[in-house]
Amino acid sequence: MEIKSAKFVISNSDYQLCPQDGKAEYAFIGRSNVGKSSLINMLCNRKGLAMTSSKPGKTLLINHFIINDNWYLVDLPGYGFASTGKAMREKLKAIIESYILYREQLALLFILLDSRHEPQKIDLEFIAWAGENGIPIALVFTKADKLSKSHLNDNITAYKNTLLEQWEELPPIFITSAEKHEGRTEILDYIDKVKM
Ligand code: GTP
Ligand code: MG
Repeated sequence: MEIKSAKFVISNSDYQLCPQDGKAEYAFIGRSNVGKSSLINMLCNRKGLAMTSSKPGKTLLINHFIINDNWYLVDLPGYGFASTGKAMREKLKAIIESYILYREQLALLFILLDSRHEPQKIDLEFIAWAGENGIPIALVFTKADKLSKSHLNDNITAYKNTLLEQWEELPPIFITSAEKHEGRTEILDYIDKVKM
């Protein structure tokens, strides 16, 4: 599938205020700074479409981008950002959770994981929470350019083994680098498949 156009539509703190045209949405979640906004820009081939930062806590709202005038990519705030303070963290948690649980248009949630790290408790808990709530998910390993191929393979194998302690079957898994434009075709083709 090709992306012919990608346009920012609206930012919201409340899922009920998001676009009401019923078009399917593919959303990106993960820890703050994991690379959600960068991945959206990479998929759309548009630097600066979604705002990114080297500091965590850049995206604080639900951001809708309309693709090919037909469906949405949704950039969500990250979870687990320690220095935002408890009140802010709780507020972001409520925004994210209500969007994921109640947004009927949500066709698929991509959960992003930093490929440099071992399985982290917060991510495993989030994946389990999504599973318990019947949310269709796919996992995306980010920043693959930051480590060697063998290290990358080791980390992903370790992750799969940890998940298999809880899951009978693994969700779809994608390996990406926003920097090197890796994993783009695979993700777009998967979205295409889900849409049909
Ligand atoms: P929040 O909005 O704060 O939750 O963060 P985010 O998940 O949207 O992360 P963002 O896309 O803003 O990226 C965070 C930092 O990681 C930025 O400095 C990016 O340039 C960098 N980054 C993201 N993806 C990649 C990647 O694939 N490779 C490399 N080397 N850096 C990346
Ligand atoms: Mg962001």
